Amino acid sequence: MLNPRFEALGTSPFVRLRGLLDGIPPGDDPIMMSLGEPQHAPPEMVGRIIFEQKHLFGKYPPQNGTEEFRQAVAGWLNRRFALPDGFIAEDRHLLPLSGTREGLFMAVQVVVPETKGGGTPAVMMPNPFYHAYAGAVAATGADAIFLPVTKELNFLPDLEAISNETWAQTAAFFICSPANPQGSAASCEYYARLVSLARQHDFVVLADECYAEIYDSEPPVSVLEVCAAENNLSNVLSFHSLSKRSNVPGLRSGFVAGNEDLISAFRTVRTFGGAIPPGPTYAASTALFNDDAHVEANRALYREKFDAAEKILSGRFGFYRPDGGFFLWLDVGDGIAATTKLWRQAGIKVLPGAFLGHEDGDGHNPGAPYIRLAVVHDIEVTTRALTKLCDVL
Ligand SMILES: Cc1ncc(COP(=O)(O)O)c(C=O)c1O
Repeated sequence: MLNPRFEALGTSPFVRLRGLLDGIPPGDDPIMMSLGEPQHAPPEMVGRIIFEQKHLFGKYPPQNGTEEFRQAVAGWLNRRFALPDGFIAEDRHLLPLSGTREGLFMAVQVVVPETKGGGTPAVMMPNPFYHAYAGAVAATGADAIFLPVTKELNFLPDLEAISNETWAQTAAFFICSPANPQGSAASCEYYARLVSLARQHDFVVLADECYAEIYDSEPPVSVLEVCAAENNLSNVLSFHSLSKRSNVPGLRSGFVAGNEDLISAFRTVRTFGGAIPPGPTYAASTALFNDDAHVEANRALYREKFDAAEKILSGRFGFYRPDGGFFLWLDVGDGIAATTKLWRQAGIKVLPGAFLGHEDGDGHNPGAPYIRLAVVHDIEVTTRALTKLCDVL
């Protein structure tokens, strides 16, 4: 007795990668660059606060977070995105999440109705995409529409290429900025256009902004900035996380911010099936959101590595410095062949772009020519890996 809805999903990119490299011995000591898991140390305060607050494991945690947590989140949003004081009301526009992934998954169940535009609702997403989006859509039985992204369009979906009929069917639109895997950040103009289409055609923008703190020179904008300029949060949910900002993917701490009615509906659904962060997690997250110094230091480490990557890769494999995030998205011609070769000859594990992309009806997968490298290790390991990569490819 299995739910057939999930059959279309196939296997996750990481299970596929395991299958691809199964039985092939690594050519050297393995360097794992396939997984977007920060390897920089978590701030010291995390362990200390969790220990100090361990008695809170004996209590069911509050679904809305503590007051201190909500204030810290609102304070961070206001600082980071220059939002006017009070635009994000802590009790009405915020909801804690156990990391963004579970929230992104549940959001589709919260916002997608039974029908839209007289038929099956559609949920749009960029292609390639973060795999949770497709899983979320499959769970609801909505139609997933995969929007191919190209370098010419800065790897963001072409909003003008979508017909009014398709917009009418659309119930939700996933946008990832800075994008995983390409690192492109949506501009204010792009977000403004998307939000205006959402209001015109009555769909919800699900903005995955979990990489907003990992950037090169320009801080990526949030969809919330566009909303603040219009003093209107309707049709918008913005997702954030401490996983990348503070190197604590194991803490499972994030939140969603947005329109009051959407947040209220989200809260109701979470009363039945939400993964609520534990009390000690709220306490540690409060301290992390109140502190920007560790984030600046973290960003400097990534910048140093992108400097090194630029020296090694400039002019090769379509190298570019991403606006944000910590991935290199390299055009190697055949991503699957390059992945196998890198593992077999150098022990470098990367992710083929094809595994992050969806194949269209003509057999075209926009991720196929690429490999994704997570630049999460220290500068020494990163430099060694990229130098070897050039030798092998
Ligand atoms: C684009 C994107 N969204 C969401 C997530 C989920 O992160 P978390 O649940 O740790 O906040 C990830 C993790 O790698 C990601 O790459």
